[in-house]
Amino acid sequence: MPNSQTTSPPSSISIIRPDDWHLHVRDGAGLKSVVPFTASQCGRAIIMPNLTPPVTTTEQASSYRQAIFDAIDKNSNFQPLMTLYLTDTTPPEEIETAVDSGIVSAVKLYPAGATTNSDAGVTDIKKCYQTLEMMQKLGLPLLVHGEVTHQDIDIFDREKKFIDQRLVSLVKDFPELKVVFEHITTSDAADFVIQSSSYVAATITAHHLLMNRNDMLVGGIKPHHYCLPILKRETHREALIRAAISGNNKFFMGTDSAPHSKHNKETACGCAGMFTAFAAIELYAEAFDNADALDKLEQFSSLNGPLFYGLEANSDKITLQREKWTVPDAFDFGDDVVIPLRAGQTINWKITS
Ligand code: DOR
Ligand code: ZN
Repeated sequence: MPNSQTTSPPSSISIIRPDDWHLHVRDGAGLKSVVPFTASQCGRAIIMPNLTPPVTTTEQASSYRQAIFDAIDKNSNFQPLMTLYLTDTTPPEEIETAVDSGIVSAVKLYPAGATTNSDAGVTDIKKCYQTLEMMQKLGLPLLVHGEVTHQDIDIFDREKKFIDQRLVSLVKDFPELKVVFEHITTSDAADFVIQSSSYVAATITAHHLLMNRNDMLVGGIKPHHYCLPILKRETHREALIRAAISGNNKFFMGTDSAPHSKHNKETACGCAGMFTAFAAIELYAEAFDNADALDKLEQFSSLNGPLFYGLEANSDKITLQREKWTVPDAFDFGDDVVIPLRAGQTINWKITS
């Protein structure tokens, strides 16, 4: 619901520096191309572990973290918050090691086969119960890619089915496990989070706030708008907007910026993911502005996430100005290029400081 302010819309806003609670930065040459974008606008980011091979141990997370520091400006204050990739055989002891290290902030659950590099993911959550027990005990959050993967379940129903078939029992069996339902895309997911305990929260991407499935399928198929969970119908997008601007502290920013080379997107079997990190907060500002709720942006982008993770908010601010600018057609991405969201089109907001 738009708020009832009658004053003219602001031409600039200052907010506490945001954090990205769900980000893919890849590795190798691609890492060097993309992570500086996030380091320049966010204080912290939760770094997804779906590399090949996946980041399943604290030792791997530690070297990945170093690679991220090596890829950004030496004077940057950006903090990568590392995650471990949960498998059927992640031992509870690895959770103790992770917590002791102080560099691992969460564990990511990919149902096997759900998305990019998820083949090593979990085949049956029951196999992970001892490990989840340890996470609950030590307060390490579980980040959930919430989609079932059966061939017979329609791709547009996979999130709702995951809630009914997996998530309801998971939160019942682990009532004090911190769970982030990642990149939610449906009214069902928003409702589930709202009615769950304070241990359950959700991230919402900018692209799911700004687009529905027509943006992917009408007037020609748009491979750069293909992501997982897939864009849904307009009623779901509207429910996500309501959740994001509601002031409920369970909802926070997580871009799921997921760069793939142009070559791997514009092909007969293209990868899932949109590259949004180059203008993350600007895209969220646009979504909140469209809903006449810019006054709710800071809470979503900069306060709710740290609150859930038990961290302080960032101590500095950024300023955004209402100013249209044209997104480049492509950005370098290792030896290839990545096509950003809105390539060649405009974004209404710009960071000025
Ligand atoms: O669109 C997506 N891209 N969704 C995911 O869950 C994974 C991500 C990726 O890593 O490419
Ligand atoms: Zn992701």
